[in-house]
Amino acid sequence: MASLGHDVIGIDVDEKKAAALARGEAPFFEPGLPEFLAAGAHTGRLAFSSDVEHARGSSVHFLAIGTPQGVSGAADLSYLFTAVTELLPVLRPGNLVVGKSTVPVGVAAQIAVLVESTGASLAWNPEFLREGRAIKDTLEPDRMVYGVREGDTAAVAMLDEVYAPLLAGGIPRMITDYATAELVKVAANAFLATKISFINAMAEIAEASGADIDQLADALGQDPRIGRRFLNAGLGFGGGCLPKDIRGFMARADELGVGESLGFLREVEGVNLRRRDRVVELALDELPSRSGRVAVLGLAFKPDSDDVRDSPALDVAARLAAEGLDVVASDPEANEKARASHPQLEYRVDPLDAIVGAELVLVLTEWRQFAALDPRAAGAVARQRTIIDARGCIDADLWRSAGWRVISLGHAVPARVTQLVA
Ligand code: UGA
Repeated sequence: MASLGHDVIGIDVDEKKAAALARGEAPFFEPGLPEFLAAGAHTGRLAFSSDVEHARGSSVHFLAIGTPQGVSGAADLSYLFTAVTELLPVLRPGNLVVGKSTVPVGVAAQIAVLVESTGASLAWNPEFLREGRAIKDTLEPDRMVYGVREGDTAAVAMLDEVYAPLLAGGIPRMITDYATAELVKVAANAFLATKISFINAMAEIAEASGADIDQLADALGQDPRIGRRFLNAGLGFGGGCLPKDIRGFMARADELGVGESLGFLREVEGVNLRRRDRVVELALDELPSRSGRVAVLGLAFKPDSDDVRDSPALDVAARLAAEGLDVVASDPEANEKARASHPQLEYRVDPLDAIVGAELVLVLTEWRQFAALDPRAAGAVARQRTIIDARGCIDADLWRSAGWRVISLGHAVPARVTQLVA
């Protein structure tokens, strides 16, 4: 927002976080974010505070509050409603509150009643950014959705003004009601999760039948009705969004009495979790004695992120450690966050150091650093040359030519060849 020319004050109840941001320190790894923070500080358009009083005087108030999964699977809305309650006293008639948080359908209408009691109005404007590409996705979104009260042309005009530079670039925008705007977000995530689980279900079939999942995905993706994106088979989806959003969506559908409509999402989740089981099973098949050292490359739920929330990679690493294996992990950005919750694992900065003495290597996050690893260098330090590529990211032929046995998800497991050395 500051880069678009607005004067922005970011408020967070966490004083340390607000202070770090004011110093230009991003609280998580996100490519490009430190540069944007520095630019905002330099132009004087971006400031931070932990005191909501500093929101007074702003005409537009974005709600970007987390809605984590609660105990029942439904979204925990307590942080969001606390923030709204604290914001109410600083709102002025004519202000616009813009909801960005991912919420169960029906919540915006409840917040609107609170906001309107101050003479301000509410727009629901979901974001579709991906971690690791947050800046590009924010400044060049595929579409913009404004959920407003019927006939609230003032809210639309204010949002148009906020986003004027983006709209000038021709980004499509859609004006709708609150419920539709809320649903666009969760429905999009549910669709993406379904697409991933679809290809992972095909990977199960490919493993059993000897088909090649990557060629299958390429051929399917040539059909523009299907498309190749989000059709990468592997260890499945994780992170702070897709898993909790589909669970929250199912919980909300149950509340609305239409739980059956989303029954398939249970299977989407089932396929997703089975991929983790499969990798654990493959690893234990390689090390039936359940002892020895394994190198785990990747802990973040996806590359270009240090996020380990619901990370398939960290889950597999922890399960292998629980089976008795010595797990030595390496992730370009997520080691410290993983260490905080999983001190039982060993961590190395350099992936080659993690491979030293390993009887098995697993690639669990598709960082480009791992795809670029030299299989000969890895082979020189490993105890045994077996690698499980759970993300389809290494050049299997190259690794095989360097003497490695390569096990890839979505492919039949290669026969074990005993090498007799004279
Ligand atoms: C997701 C959505 O893509 C965003 O549009 C949405 O705004 C965001 O959630 C959110 O709700 O805030 P994100 O969680 O950052 O974004 O990450 P994705 O790129 O969607 O990846 C999610 C998971 O799916 C990762 O674990 C990734 O490895 C996995 N994935 C993705 C696959 O296994 N295969 C694929 O083909 C694509």
